[in-house]
Amino acid sequence: MSLYRNAVWFLNGIHQYTRKGYEAASKGFDPQDLNVSVVGRSFMITGANSGIGRATAMAIAKKGGTVHMVCRNKEKAEEARMDIVNESGNTEVHIHIVDMSETLKVWEFAEAFKKQYPSLNVLINNAGCMVRKRELNAEGLEKSFATNTMGVYILTQSLIPLLQKSRDPRVIIVSSGGMLVQKLRVDDLQSERGYFDGVMVYAQNKRQQVVLTQQWAKANPVIHFSSMHPGWVDTPAVSTSMPQFHHMMGERLRSVEQGADTVVWLALSRAAARTSSGTFFQDRSPVPAHLPLAWTRSSAEEIQSFMAQLETLAGVIQSQPDAELNSPSRPQFV
Ligand SMILES: NC(=O)c1ccc[n+]([C@@H]2O[C@H](COP(=O)([O-])OP(=O)(O)OC[C@H]3O[C@@H](n4cnc5c(N)ncnc54)[C@H](OP(=O)(O)O)[C@@H]3O)[C@@H](O)[C@H]2O)c1
Repeated sequence: MSLYRNAVWFLNGIHQYTRKGYEAASKGFDPQDLNVSVVGRSFMITGANSGIGRATAMAIAKKGGTVHMVCRNKEKAEEARMDIVNESGNTEVHIHIVDMSETLKVWEFAEAFKKQYPSLNVLINNAGCMVRKRELNAEGLEKSFATNTMGVYILTQSLIPLLQKSRDPRVIIVSSGGMLVQKLRVDDLQSERGYFDGVMVYAQNKRQQVVLTQQWAKANPVIHFSSMHPGWVDTPAVSTSMPQFHHMMGERLRSVEQGADTVVWLALSRAAARTSSGTFFQDRSPVPAHLPLAWTRSSAEEIQSFMAQLETLAGVIQSQPDAELNSPSRPQFV
């Protein structure tokens, strides 16, 4: 079955996820959709110093939005900020240094942000990683899961109250079409069993993001949630984590602007706000979150178990009294 899923996914990809796929899809775009000003609206973008996140931050800054760049590396963040400010002429671009793999730090950041800022209109969960080896973060969580799933979960969950009181609030998750080859696996979130295949762990985390988006949409009707696939985009993540794929695809990969297009459309356009919350997008259109006959749908019990496990993990952190948050003896999940 997984061979079937991988083959269908790759064939789909060659037609749709490439630069040509974008060019074909973009013929149906309405250019008026992005003819908006978002002065006074604020946007948080994780991983905003590189690739799709940076192109998104640039596009939003050009439309006048206040941009909060959440990055882990200060130098890279400052360099990107300078570029964005210079090219857009918008000085409302702020940097927050947070490592999304450090769950406790993500939560501390979100709590501090809520105290400092009166509103947040759009949260874009873009930062992501594909790791080769199984490593743990300070809390004992496997790092791919910690970054791609737990970081997204705790940041979003913590910011929901702030988003809820802001006008036209939206949450966007940059997932991946790679998730189509995975069914949610609820019995091994930390990838403790068997061989650690970083590519499949990444795809599993991306499936988790899509499930989270659907669940959040049901639980929070005031906020518009969406997840999306950017296509195959020429970014450092692809060249470093999948060098052979990067080499093989070469010029067929999308530019970062093409990869960011649907993120920007979901963040800015009125048309996106009219779509149903919780949907998975590709090239400004809702697309199925499952391949035909791939048996990747989860039961209500599996989804409930997944959500409960995330809530428990977050609860361990959130139950720590403030005084202990920065102490060397951090909560250990495992
Ligand atoms: N490129 C593609 O073909 C493709 C396809 C499907 C999905 N995606 C998704 O698109 C998103 C953006 O990736 P990209 O392709 O634009 O790659 P990229 O240019 O390498 O950008 C990834 C960003 O995430 C940041 N990041 C990674 N781990 C982090 C952490 N622990 N804490 C904070 N920031 C962290 C990186 O920071 P540093 O610069 O400091 O490393 C960088 O800013 C990812 O979620 C990825 O899974 C990409």
